[in-house]
Amino acid sequence: MKKLIQLHDLQFEPFISEDKITRSIEKVAEQINRDFKDENPVFLGVLNGAFMVASEIIKRFKGNCEVTFVKLGSYEGTSTSGSVETLIGLSHSLEGRRVVVIEDIVDTGNTLAAIDKILLEHKVAEYRIATLFLKPDAYKKDYKIDYTGMEIPNDFIVGYGLDYDGLGRNLTQVYKLKE
Ligand code: IMP
Ligand code: MG
Repeated sequence: MKKLIQLHDLQFEPFISEDKITRSIEKVAEQINRDFKDENPVFLGVLNGAFMVASEIIKRFKGNCEVTFVKLGSYEGTSTSGSVETLIGLSHSLEGRRVVVIEDIVDTGNTLAAIDKILLEHKVAEYRIATLFLKPDAYKKDYKIDYTGMEIPNDFIVGYGLDYDGLGRNLTQVYKLKE
């Protein structure tokens, strides 16, 4: 019997183990280490969801690097509202820098469109996108996703930074909405 958890009005069932998540993060971190060796990249975490994966990727980076965050929001309950709001913008000059965007999950790609606009306005030299999870069936944009931890089906998930109406971010494994 799988252990269910209750968040607000909904039940969630175990979906991706912490071990499997850790292995995906190690794979992504290895690729970033290879591509940004001696490059002093800026890691740009997208709050709130990416706080956990950002920390896990960044602590595995072996060279010098800088870290900054933006806070964007689009989700309401278990679906995207379609419009992305900048809740906290960029405080750090990124002009001419190589940036690695760290996302918890890429769903429709609307958040990436907002990030793309912000980074072009800030005249970065180059940016790459790293995401722990990607929902290929929901993704509607053309931005190249350079580093993907894991592709998942179009299910609503919580845990490892991801929430349902504010709850579930602290879970160290991933759960999906019970069918
Ligand atoms: P997008 O803008 O549609 O690509 O969605 C990106 C953001 O929506 C992510 O950074 C998450 O914060 C949130 N999101 C997307 N899918 C899920 C999910 O399954 N569970 C919880 N949050 C999600
Ligand atoms: Mg997010």
